[in-house]
Amino acid sequence: MRIIVGITGGIAAYKSPQLVRLLRKAGHEVQCVATTHALQFVTQLTLETVSGRSLYYDLFSSANSHSTEHIALKDWGEAMIVAPATANIIGKLASGVADDALSTLMLAFCGKPMLICPAMNSQMWLSQPVQRNVAYLQSLQGVAFAGPEGGDLACGVSGVGRMCEPETIVQFFATAFGPKPLVGQRVLVTAGPTYERIDAVRFVGNYSSGKMGYALAEALAARGAEVELVSGPTHLTVSAPGVKLTRVESAREMFDAATATFPSCSAAILSAAVADYRPDHQANHKLKKNGADGMDLHLVQNPDILATLGTMKTEGQRLIGFALETDNEMQNALAKLERKNLDFIVLNSLKNEGAGFGVDTNQVTIIGRDGRTVDSPLLPKREVANLIVDTCL
Ligand code: PMT
Repeated sequence: MRIIVGITGGIAAYKSPQLVRLLRKAGHEVQCVATTHALQFVTQLTLETVSGRSLYYDLFSSANSHSTEHIALKDWGEAMIVAPATANIIGKLASGVADDALSTLMLAFCGKPMLICPAMNSQMWLSQPVQRNVAYLQSLQGVAFAGPEGGDLACGVSGVGRMCEPETIVQFFATAFGPKPLVGQRVLVTAGPTYERIDAVRFVGNYSSGKMGYALAEALAARGAEVELVSGPTHLTVSAPGVKLTRVESAREMFDAATATFPSCSAAILSAAVADYRPDHQANHKLKKNGADGMDLHLVQNPDILATLGTMKTEGQRLIGFALETDNEMQNALAKLERKNLDFIVLNSLKNEGAGFGVDTNQVTIIGRDGRTVDSPLLPKREVANLIVDTCL
């Protein structure tokens, strides 16, 4: 995950570099953002060294001429941890005050996952204004608190107010905001194109590479799900344990594999670009020109795999489809959601540059049956896959 670590001015800031190190060790990318008071306790160089990225602390830095770094970081970050969080930063966020780099970013980040790790004198912590601010922030979507803990405080007294140890914060973060485990779930994924034979050497097909579907299979396997990946012809391979790959060529073969597998699955995500039509006659030999000026290819409709799974779906099973659209995108996607009895539809508009067939990136809108929509920016397909899994399962 891409995590922003916010650091404010308290003695516990000396533990923040260790928190950053642990998060990176756990595979996260970390961007540090500090208040100027924090830099009295921990140096810019230390935070940049442990995070491997430039520190953001100056709202009006000359390197950032338009002063919109907080908005760019709000989009970059998938979650935020503020450790230590002083009474001051808690109060600012609770009151909507944004007067420096960190408080501005925190306000912009509201609604996304944010873990606040307070550290202060126990009387300050227990004071009515701080408790009122904490209660208000706890009521907000996405905000969680870790600590403070009891123990000896820097001011010489003993009481509640110590920031949690970095190891505890990492654990707490994983429980509160980490990827949802899918251990024990079996999920069907379709990927890639289908090839519809014309003769022994030619086919009707499309440009799907399978990258989106394989990324979904890997995202699901990383969470412990057992994945049944039914793939049309692609050059891709899967190395993730937990993914069983069934290769097929045509829509009818994909239909047979998917309908046989779905009853034993808790969910299915159909990202394959299935040919809607196939030649009604498929020659076993290579068709010859025989001097003719043209050739008629008569096509017949393929079965709709997703719509069929929609009729088979039982209570407790989730069905997620894709909609690849070029016009009236939202309207068409909503019609498919309804017609095919889906729980979610992932809209892929070919109008978005860098999205769709063949490329390593994608940009989607996920629409739920309850009307909820989640828009992704242009992201690597691996991250779009994580977003789809987090939103839909
Ligand atoms: O493979 P990549 O190069 O990474 O590209 C990814 C992608 C662009 C193929 C993928 O993100 C995507 O948009 N997949 C859906 C493509 C598609 O065929 O969309 P559609 O709107 O025609 O179909 C709607 C849904 O019905 C899809 O879930 C499709 O899998 C399913 N379908 C369609 C026809 C059919 N006969 N059976 C089906 O199951």
